[in-house]
Order: sequence, then C-alpha cells, then structure tokens
Amino acid sequence: MSESTYPPVTEHLSDPETAREEGRRKMDWALQHMPILNALREEFETEQPLAGETIAMAMHVEAKTANLVELLADGGAEVAITGCNPLSTHDDVSAALNEHESITSYAVRGVGDEEYYDAMHAVVSHRPTITVDDGMDMVKLVHEEYPELIDSILGGAEETTTGVHRLRAMDADGELHYPVFAVNDTPMKRLFDNVHGTGESSLATIAMTTNLSFAGKNVVVGGFGYCGKGVAKKAAGQNANVIVCEVDPRKALEAHMEGYEVLPMTEAAAKGDVFVTTTGNRDVITREHFEVMNDGVLLANAGHFDVEINLEELDDLAVDRFEARDGVEGYEMPDGRVLNVLAEGRLVNLAAPIALGHPVEVMDQSFGVQAVAVRDLAENADAYDPGVHDVPDDLDREVAEIKLAAEGVDHDSLSEAQREYMGSWEHGT
Ligand code: NAI
Repeated sequence: MSESTYPPVTEHLSDPETAREEGRRKMDWALQHMPILNALREEFETEQPLAGETIAMAMHVEAKTANLVELLADGGAEVAITGCNPLSTHDDVSAALNEHESITSYAVRGVGDEEYYDAMHAVVSHRPTITVDDGMDMVKLVHEEYPELIDSILGGAEETTTGVHRLRAMDADGELHYPVFAVNDTPMKRLFDNVHGTGESSLATIAMTTNLSFAGKNVVVGGFGYCGKGVAKKAAGQNANVIVCEVDPRKALEAHMEGYEVLPMTEAAAKGDVFVTTTGNRDVITREHFEVMNDGVLLANAGHFDVEINLEELDDLAVDRFEARDGVEGYEMPDGRVLNVLAEGRLVNLAAPIALGHPVEVMDQSFGVQAVAVRDLAENADAYDPGVHDVPDDLDREVAEIKLAAEGVDHDSLSEAQREYMGSWEHGT
C-alpha cells in the first residue's frame, strides 16, 4: 500500500493558529452540553479501551463530531478523519482536531471531487483497524481499493440511514467482508437525531439562510420517514401548512392521520412555497415539478446525498443562474420564474454556509452510541461475523441511562414479578 502525500488540514489554511483557537472555542462550547461524551471520557481515559486501535473516520467535521473524535483518541486510539460531504467541514474545528497528538484531520471545506477522495485515501493510509462512517464511503473505499486491510479490520460503525441502506445492499450482494454496526438504527439515535435533529436544524438553517418565515406558507416535505416526520412536525409548529409526499402507503396514511395534506409531488409542486426532501432516494423533485412551481420557491434537501432534487434537469431548464444570497442560488426559468436552491442541493442543515448541524444535545446521544459501539468492536469483535449488525440493546440503554442521570431524571424499573410476567406465555385470561 503506497503512502499518501495528501497533507492534513493545517497546510491548506492561511492562518492555522487563529483557526485552531476558534475551532477549540466551538468544541468547548459544544462539550459543555454533551454529558454523555463527558461521562464516557472519564471512563475511556482511565480504561483505555481503544489502546492499539487505529480508527479511520469519514464524518461531518464540526464541533460535536470533533468531541467524539477526541473521546476516541483519549480512549487510546490513533484517529484519522476526513469529511463525508465537501461542504459540511468547519475548517477551524478540523484544524483544532489536528492539534491532538493522536489525531490527523484531512477535512477541508469546499474541496473538489479529486481532493475529497485524496483525503479519503490519506485516511485509509493510516491502516485502520476500525472504520466510522457517515454514508458508507469509507467502507466502500476499503473494500474496493484496499482489500488487503480487511483481515486486520475489526469492524465499523455507520451513522446514517443512507449508509445503512448501502451497507445492507452490499451485504445482500455478499460484498461486505467485515462487521458493521448500524448505529443509525438504535432508538437513542434515530428517534432523536433523525426526527428532532433534522427537523429543528433543517428548518432553522433554511430560515437563517433566507431570512424568511414559515408561517402561512405551504411547506412540502418529501418522505415521511424519521427525518420527514421531524421536519413536518416542526414546520407545523411554526404555523406552516404541511403537505407530505410519500411512496409507502403506510407512511402516507400515517401522515394523513397526523392531519397533514398528502399529495403526489406532481400536485404538491404547484402548491408549495418551500420544499424539503428527506427520502434518501433520487429524483424526488424533477423537471415536471420545476415546470409548475411558483415563482420564488425555496428548494432544500435534508437527505444524505445531493440527488433528491434533480439539479441537472433544473439547470437544463434555466436561462440564467445567479447567487441570490449566500447559500441560495436562483435558477431563472424561461418564463421569468425564479426557483431558489439552498446549499447546492446538499443536506441543508450541514452544508449551507451558516449551517451548524443538529443541536448539540441530540448529537451527544448519537455520538454516545457511536463511542460505545466502537468500544464494543475493540473488546468483542470476535462475536460478530461480517455483515450489518444491530448495536446491542444494552449498549443503547447504557447511553440512555447516562443521559437521564445527567438530566436528573429518575425512572421506574421492572420488578422481578413484572420481568417474569413479560417473559412468560403461560399467563392468560
Ligand atoms: P427513512 O427510511 O425513515 O425515511 C425515508 C422515507 O422516504 C420513507 O418513508 C420512504 O418511503 C420515503 N421515500 C422514498 N422514496 C421516496 C420518493 N421518491 N418520494 C417520496 N417519499 C419517498 O429514512 P430517514 O432516517 O428519515 O433518513 C432519510 C435521509 O436523511 C437519509 O438519506 C438519511 O441518511 C438522511 N439523514 C439526514 C440527516 C441530516 O442531518 N440532514 C440526519 C439523519 C438522516
């Protein structure tokens, strides 16, 4: 395996020292609101569960992620990290991370495709024993280009729905050769991060980027899964009229019973003022929809990849493209209508210029699960065959207990009799 010559972040910045200080300030602020990572840090620093491991990470490099990365390093690991989206990196945070003696950060905001993948190769050149992904790009790269590393990789952890979908497809094809935890699928992650995190941060980012209100507007939500539910609920909470578009009849019915209007996108397109896609699928909004949209609509995507709004087709239709605001590109149609695309159609809550990602408290939970999943790989990797695995329920509960204790919330426990009753089939009427 050849060594990478791609340099870490600090060599891309004109004033790395100032960047480091600002990045550290952002991390310190976030850490004050991350009781789970703080509790795990005490344990990890004392017990060094990751000693001897090298962790390769491709994630959104911002303050909350950075605190996870430092936790893993303080738990004994060497960590190399890059971004999982060309626009979501905060360079100052990346620079602050790179200062840690056990961490190398290659993440830089706004890189082109070639540099994005150069950075990914640079991370893999550290010869990981564990991978941590948000979207599965690292697992794919290792399998396709560095198969010689697979035998020494204990396993991986995957953060998001799209990554887990891709991993399951890879597993079904018999192409996934080490175990990977579906961190996304734990209750502590997706009931909070996908629902509340995506809902709050996507809407907040759209509002801040445009300086516009949701009240009284028709907000069209593409997909009524975990993320879509969050976006719909929070938009309704801001007095929008919510329209849901779904392909799964049960989800469509659920949205209907929640009181939202449910329409095919062909009809919603003509009614909407703001569109937010959350499907993890491609071509949710296409030419036929652009053709009937109102002048001035806002188009935003909160799904993992930038394929939900078909920008190629929009560009084909447009007679002009211009920067309407920072993070907003206007596409002028031949009849004079302007359709506004936020954050280049990339996940808006992380890729818009002012985006901060999910609230800190939410990411504390997601990254708490990541940390205990990685600890389990280091301690019990032999227990897992290659393939996609659920994170053991007791680990998810451990993270919930830490959070409840930090919040000062006490809760009930099953009595012995209740436990026996719940595990028995013999009690009837
Ligand atoms: P999910 O699987 O719970 O929901 C997706 C929904 O979209 C499903 O109900 C599905 O039936 C529907 N759908 C699929 N194709 C559609 C189409 N053409 N038109 C309308 N509906 C369609 O997935 P989840 O957890 O809500 O994640 C959605 C996406 O958001 C994924 O790409 C995930 O990786 C990403 N994500 C983004 C976050 C962010 O910070 N922006 C945070 C967490 C997840």
